[in-house]
Amino acid sequence: MKRVGVLVSGRGSNLQALIAAAQEGRLGGEVAVVISNVAEAPALGRARTAGIPALACDHRGTPREEHDRTVLAALQEHGVDLVCLAGYTRLLSSAFLAALPHRVVNIHPSLLPAFPGLDAQRRAWEHGVKVAGATVHLVEEALDAGPIVMQEAVAVRADDTPETLAARILEAEHRIYPRAVRLLLDGRWRLEGRRFIAEPEPA
Ligand code: GRF
Repeated sequence: MKRVGVLVSGRGSNLQALIAAAQEGRLGGEVAVVISNVAEAPALGRARTAGIPALACDHRGTPREEHDRTVLAALQEHGVDLVCLAGYTRLLSSAFLAALPHRVVNIHPSLLPAFPGLDAQRRAWEHGVKVAGATVHLVEEALDAGPIVMQEAVAVRADDTPETLAARILEAEHRIYPRAVRLLLDGRWRLEGRRFIAEPEPA
């Protein structure tokens, strides 16, 4: 059984989607540990309810590299094959990423490379895009910039508000994140430059 570690900072709805997929045998692995830099994050409660080890690892007052080393040690202790960022609000150090090459993945609420960074759904709405969406990508040091694993487009409606658009994007996130994780764990993929190529299943 492949093992997934999830890093969270807040609500945890994407974590919940990953947990549900694992419970239903759709993830290709199990959620082995959940770690939050925010002790009060509701996401930790979701993990505990599901019987998954849930750790708080406060970053305040600790240099980034040192905090990342602590998180990395906890992930390694739990033998994770893949690390999923699910609303994790911290940038990861190069040492952390170098220890897990191509094994850290993130979900972002826009069609990257449009609207990287915070509040992407509102900025897309304000910009007046007709198609918004969600992206799962491999994590590199630059923010929201790694190879794209999977995307789902969400049409913007004339009567959308930033909130209604964000809600539909979130539904798309919950659909593609478990599917992307399954693909990554499965290992039938390769990178050509920054292009992520999924290989067909053997006949
Ligand atoms: C999601 O919109 C995700 O794309 C972004 O942060 C939000 C986290 O939401 N990176 P949740 O904690 O998974 O509910």
